[in-house]
Amino acid sequence: SKYQIAVIVGSLRKDSFNHQMANAIVKLAPSDFSFKQLQISDLPLYNQDDDANPSSSVKRLKAEILASQGLLFLTPEYNRSIPGVLKNAIDQASRPYGQSAWAGKPAGVLGVSIGAVGTAMAQQHLRNILAYLDVPTLGQPEAFIQAKEGLFDQDGNIGAGSQKFLQAWMDQYVAWVKKHAT
Ligand code: FNR
Repeated sequence: SKYQIAVIVGSLRKDSFNHQMANAIVKLAPSDFSFKQLQISDLPLYNQDDDANPSSSVKRLKAEILASQGLLFLTPEYNRSIPGVLKNAIDQASRPYGQSAWAGKPAGVLGVSIGAVGTAMAQQHLRNILAYLDVPTLGQPEAFIQAKEGLFDQDGNIGAGSQKFLQAWMDQYVAWVKKHAT
């Protein structure tokens, strides 16, 4: 399709709410958008000594980002920030210096947590990182999604109560990607 989106989920948990949201929200996108979740679980811990000889998983990650027209981040909140696995993936694809895969890719940020204000701090930290990496990130609407009963229906789609809000989010995201994609 015309717009290939790289989806980065900051949880490795099998039943992750953020994973479920990643699978559900892409169904609200138009047909000229396609989405691929990038694997980050097999990335080594970032070590600057490896810059000259990156592992195949790091090369794969960077190639998938470079082949995309946009980014979609779904982050849990761990201790009021983003999980280490997500920061590790971001760091890996940002190096070696001058060869970041992230620069210029338009992005959207979402986060699901059990708490009512959950992921607000994590998302703010993530926005800080993305600003430095020259990633134009959709500012509004913000989406701090609470994982409560009915968020998803039996088929894993967005539940009725959140559909309108998340459709509006997706519509703005789509417009943002189209505006900034190169
Ligand atoms: C959490 N959780 C959490 N929630 C939150 O709203 N703010 C926070 O700061 C934290 N901190 C935190 C730290 C650690 C180490 C864990 C394991 C969990 C709870 C978190 O929102 C919950 O586990 C979510 O289910 C994580 O997202 P996934 O894995 O369901 O996508």
